[in-house]
Amino acid sequence: MKKKLIAGNWKMNGSLAANEALVKALLAGLPAQPCEVALCVPALYLAQLQTLVAGSRIELGAQDISMHESGAYTGELSGAMFKEFGVRYAIVGHSERRQYHGETDQLVAAKAKTALASGVTPIVCVGETLAEREAGKTEEVVKRQLAAVIHENGHCISEIVVAYEPVWAIGTGKTASPEQAQQVHGVLRAQLKAASAQADRIHILYGGSMNAANAAQLLGQPDIDGGLVGGASLKAPDFLSIIAATT
Ligand code: PGA
Repeated sequence: MKKKLIAGNWKMNGSLAANEALVKALLAGLPAQPCEVALCVPALYLAQLQTLVAGSRIELGAQDISMHESGAYTGELSGAMFKEFGVRYAIVGHSERRQYHGETDQLVAAKAKTALASGVTPIVCVGETLAEREAGKTEEVVKRQLAAVIHENGHCISEIVVAYEPVWAIGTGKTASPEQAQQVHGVLRAQLKAASAQADRIHILYGGSMNAANAAQLLGQPDIDGGLVGGASLKAPDFLSIIAATT
């Protein structure tokens, strides 16, 4: 069975001093669970984090990546740049980027493709809004979002990580119930299986108000292979509890 993956998404939080304190507390308290652990931090801090996590099992992630390899794209950061700082993952298509930066399914798919080409594993986020859920469109929305990535990436799809993050659960304290989350994860797994013979090795993470209290039940579902954790990843005891809940 594949190891679970717990990835923190710090979003636009942190400072040199706070990062150091947080990472040191994480390293001091990392439980023995054989799960994978990653921190997706603001890009400016990757150099600092690279030093802080050196020699540990904590992997680094970016929160976005350019769809281009290099050139006249002011403000963008490439996969090759991330690789120089030891970055293993890049979140693509987070709902905050879809919502506030107009990212389309096609752009997200192109970003996933460039990430893979540069050796960075994209964590592709999909998820429905509250209005979409209430209109009974959850499956349609997440399948459309994932289909764009499958279409663009073909057989390489087995190299991605997927994160199901219902938009209504992000940062709201409202979590999808384990049954609600598993239902959507099952749909995503079936879609991945139809596209790749190796779909079982793909991590499908749940994200949206995952915390120390609800992690064990969510992570106990058959198709929930880990978590993408926002708020709770900024507090060492909470993040460590989530890691400890992976057994
Ligand atoms: P949250 O964020 O855990 O604070 O809800 C998750 C995410 O947006 O990745």
